[in-house]
Amino acid sequence: MSDVTVGVFTANEEQTIELGRAIGGLVRKGDMILLNGGLGSGKSVLARAIIRRILSQPQLEIPSPSFPLVLPYKGEGEKADWSILHADIFRFERQEELEELGLFDSPETVVLVEWAERVPALEKMAHLIISLNIPASGQGRLIEVASSADREELAQLGARFPVAP
Ligand SMILES: Nc1ncnc2c1ncn2[C@@H]1O[C@H](COP(=O)(O)OP(=O)(O)O)[C@@H](O)[C@H]1O
Ligand SMILES: [Mg+2]
Repeated sequence: MSDVTVGVFTANEEQTIELGRAIGGLVRKGDMILLNGGLGSGKSVLARAIIRRILSQPQLEIPSPSFPLVLPYKGEGEKADWSILHADIFRFERQEELEELGLFDSPETVVLVEWAERVPALEKMAHLIISLNIPASGQGRLIEVASSADREELAQLGARFPVAP
């Protein structure tokens, strides 16, 4: 993991959504996508944009999965064979608990996990790891996207969303 890491900056929510759309375009079936970052850092905003892009449904309603802890999505039309799970594991500590949640049941399903750092064992299963940080100024978001080497197109995100000097 972490063969390609790119640091980007989004100045506002709209740009975070843009970034999510771009990341959504890189997602492959069966990807496990981890979202790390504190409360209000933008995990849900990003996850929503990624899911909407994967499913080509820009208006799809995507609530925060705080209760229930996992929400499933199914593709339609040419994406009919896609399925997604969106989880928030803030209250979890062990991989076994996530197995009970059903996060690893289907290798074809895309799984997005908010608060992934709560269960460090997830890292070795991940295809994309996204870490969101609120800068000391409180303005914008610094976002690191890491992936395995076969996702080199990710490097282009750095040019689209450069970190402010
Ligand atoms: N680049 C940004 N600059 C400033 N605010 C942002 C940016 N991106 C997202 N936000 C805001 O940050 C908040 C993130 O909320 P949310 O996605 O629910 O966080 P989390 O799921 O990490 O707790 C939203 O209010 C959103 O408008
Ligand atoms: Mg959230």
